[in-house]
Amino acid sequence: MDLFRKKPLSAPISTEANNLSKTLGAFDLTTLGVGAIIGTGIFVMTGVAAAEHAGPGLVLSFVLAGFACVLSALCYSEFASTLPVSGSAYAYSYVAFGELLAWILGWDLVLEYGVAAAAVSSGWSGYFQGLLDGFGVHLPTALSGAYNADKGTFINLPAVIIILLISYLLTRGIKETARFNAIMVVIKLSVVLLFIITGVFYVKPENWTPFMPFGFHGVVNGAATVFFAYIGFDAISTAAEEVKRPQRDLPIGIISSLAICTVLYIAVSLVLTGIVPYQFLNVSDPVSFALRYVDQNMIAGLISVGAIAGMTTVLLVLLFGQSRLLFAISRDGLLPQALSKISAKTHTPVRSTWMVGGIIALLTGFVPLDRLANLTSIGTLFAFLVVSLGIIALRYTHPNLKRGFTVPWVPFIPLLSAAACGYLMYNLGSETWTGFFIWLFIGLLIYALYGYRSSKLNKNK
Ligand code: ALA
Repeated sequence: MDLFRKKPLSAPISTEANNLSKTLGAFDLTTLGVGAIIGTGIFVMTGVAAAEHAGPGLVLSFVLAGFACVLSALCYSEFASTLPVSGSAYAYSYVAFGELLAWILGWDLVLEYGVAAAAVSSGWSGYFQGLLDGFGVHLPTALSGAYNADKGTFINLPAVIIILLISYLLTRGIKETARFNAIMVVIKLSVVLLFIITGVFYVKPENWTPFMPFGFHGVVNGAATVFFAYIGFDAISTAAEEVKRPQRDLPIGIISSLAICTVLYIAVSLVLTGIVPYQFLNVSDPVSFALRYVDQNMIAGLISVGAIAGMTTVLLVLLFGQSRLLFAISRDGLLPQALSKISAKTHTPVRSTWMVGGIIALLTGFVPLDRLANLTSIGTLFAFLVVSLGIIALRYTHPNLKRGFTVPWVPFIPLLSAAACGYLMYNLGSETWTGFFIWLFIGLLIYALYGYRSSKLNKNK
């Protein structure tokens, strides 16, 4: 039994499987990245993070989480420019560490993208219903939330509809998807800037003291919570096979989208905690709330519209990443082959897209998943950690490989990156760890019963 069989770097990709259209450039990737990053994390989770963990020290939480992400982004960039294939961290581990860890990571990313999409779509639905309420339109209670006998809710219909609409858009073609994403990204960047520019005039520096009401420990817990806000730059690497010049464009896309968002997050968190005393921020729409707090109701309304646009693109890129990941795993034989079929007309993996969309729609429609953001974060941090160590492994096993981008100061930077991710994982609660282990256990069962035998590496032996 060979659990550590590695995929050779020159493994051929069948013609059909390689039929994705190559149309994306560095600018498209950067907008995809910003599309994936700015969403629920900044528009929803900052409230809890400030009120319950970090206080005004929230800005430090964003700096800490951003620091871990920048280090990981460097590692992702090296891998993406060396192995530009759809499977992202899954594919990198296949080469660096062998099949078992690759499968674990692939399964882990299914968790990241799938649960994140379900959680974000219920946040989307919340903001959307808030907006409808503003126009006096109220959904029947039964259709307004996931199943909950006490509250009388049965299905979260808006969340289901947005997931199905996005799946449809994704099957139309990658260029169409990128165009829609770019428009939405412009809207969301505009509202984030609008918030900063308007809010800065209402900042009262006394709201920043005490700066760390829950101590430094609270700031670190806050960092683990707001880490969710950064998730997404890694999803760009799943587009690798649809990029014109992947070796150059992927690193640019990954690093610049993360840099833009980090700067914006730091500014937003400073302004937010400067306008509202942190104790009041425990609301589901803290960013709009802050402007309502200072009677800027119209701008607060615009921010809500921008938040909806923002979460829409997050969903778009997460579903995109999920479909490309399943496509890559299935192409290697670890999941059924049907999932790697590409439509001849639109050059997109239509089946895996609809399968992902269908499952996530069911999940978000009926299961109350909005509390699972931390599960997504632990899964993502684990992927970052393995990718960082993978850089060291690949430098050692394939020193002469052509790399479009190289991480400086190896092994120091990758080790620091792994340590930072490990530290944030450690600071996520025990409930999150339990969920993570259960998920990994299910994945190992699937591998033992199906993947190990049907793997292409097993068949080609
Ligand atoms: N970073 C994404 C968000 O905050 C997942 O919604």
